[in-house]
Amino acid sequence: MRLETSHGAPERIDTPLLAVLVVTDGPADGLEVVDRLVGGALALARSAGDFRGRERDRLLAYSEGRGGPQRVLYLGVGSSGALTPEKLRVAAGRAVRAAERCRVRSLALCLAFPDPDTVGARGFQAAAEGLVLAAWRFDELRSGGVEEADAEAAGEERPPVVASAVLVAPASPELERGVRIGHAFATGENAARTLQARPGNVATPAHLAAEAVRIAGEAGLEAAVLGPAEMAGEGMEALLAVSRGSDEEPRLIVLRHSGGEPGDAPLVLVGKGLTFDAGGISIKPAKGMEKMKYDMSGGAAVIGAMLTVGSLGVPANIVGVIPSSENLLNGSATKPGDVIGSRAGKSIEVINTDAEGRLILADALDYATDWDPAAIVDCATLTGACVVALGHHRSALLGTDEELMAELRRAGDLAGEPCWPLPLDAPYRRQLRSSVADLKNVGGRSAGTITAACFLSEFTGKTPWAHLDIAGTAYGTTKKPYLRNGPNGTPCRLLLEWVCARSGL
Ligand code: BES
Ligand code: MN
Ligand code: ZN
Repeated sequence: MRLETSHGAPERIDTPLLAVLVVTDGPADGLEVVDRLVGGALALARSAGDFRGRERDRLLAYSEGRGGPQRVLYLGVGSSGALTPEKLRVAAGRAVRAAERCRVRSLALCLAFPDPDTVGARGFQAAAEGLVLAAWRFDELRSGGVEEADAEAAGEERPPVVASAVLVAPASPELERGVRIGHAFATGENAARTLQARPGNVATPAHLAAEAVRIAGEAGLEAAVLGPAEMAGEGMEALLAVSRGSDEEPRLIVLRHSGGEPGDAPLVLVGKGLTFDAGGISIKPAKGMEKMKYDMSGGAAVIGAMLTVGSLGVPANIVGVIPSSENLLNGSATKPGDVIGSRAGKSIEVINTDAEGRLILADALDYATDWDPAAIVDCATLTGACVVALGHHRSALLGTDEELMAELRRAGDLAGEPCWPLPLDAPYRRQLRSSVADLKNVGGRSAGTITAACFLSEFTGKTPWAHLDIAGTAYGTTKKPYLRNGPNGTPCRLLLEWVCARSGL
């Protein structure tokens, strides 16, 4: 989506749809002028008591005049004192959905009321995010593109893609900064969503690597891709053990952004890029298995975050590492009971081949520690247990560094991609003791998310490290108007908030 800012009078902007945010605590100066365009519809609705600016309040009215907005959409956002970035994201998303229903391809979003000073750069950023995220669609695998015949035949015409938006507010550095950052954050997250949405036969490890290389070119990043031979040279036996059951070759993708001083310790983002998880020999049940194309969501979020980091020129050294493989089963597949090696030199008894994410991450994390990072943050659709523990509203957060975890909590809250801590102390580690190897890859039924993170912690050395289990949050149904059912790119914006906070951007 193209985003522009405009500082003129909202009532004079030529647009098919002008969305105006309205708070409960009184109309701000200037709203009356807009309302005159539509015959005082807001004033009437207010005096009837129908529209009070509550978050569910909404009023669409049509202008009689020529020039200026054709439609005015009033969106309640609650009281001005309780306005949050998330409420602005939601309001922006509602505006885009209204544009779709009106079948128009562009809109203006007026942020002049309430007082833009109460909104600030954060608010402008959130509004920009809401617009760009809401406009995302995945249509590339439909024949005939967007307005195709079969949808028409079914009587459900697909709404047009909303391709551009104007944010209207008085000129200020906060507005320009907020819109620039919000646009970049949401563009990265949308790139992640597109990768997530692609099915396993399209988004193979080689495809993910090719896309990462393409994005690196776009964003001015360095890219390196390791194939099986290089992995063998690195001793990445755990990653290779997972890919053994598949005809598709694994890839280890490395994206590097050098925005800091040459000697500065990098921040490393690691994302699980398992392009399809059938479970391996410990095969999953058929029901819902198609969702396991989303098992590369962590990798997608990291690729999307790296796109943004490069295009914004974040002043820090940041590396993205994405181990990518399928987890299928053939005659050469790793079997339950097999003992495999790892880059770190630890032997692993594979009790369950479906606990493959931790295996590919083990080698990627160990690889990342070689750079002596300031911190490593990984994200992965790692455990079904996480969905049981936290459902779909928060990612699980575990790690070895309290300060880092506090930073990630805050980043998640700002991004509207919240996470919640789970403990990671020594007693859980015992569940991973093996009778034949250094450790086994599953720790039994209890505390599955914690024992998975315990497993990962064996491969992070002394580096401050945190892990986000996004099994319940990276995709699914949603009521957030700026998202859609399906992939949502979580935790791409969380990671971006974190690296920007770290770098002081
Ligand atoms: N990719 C799955 C985890 C998952 C499950 C993600 C449901 C999203 C929704 C992971 O590879 C897996 O299969 N984990 C196993 C681990 C178990 C065998 C210890 C699980 O959670 O069942
Ligand atoms: Mn699995
Ligand atoms: Zn998996």
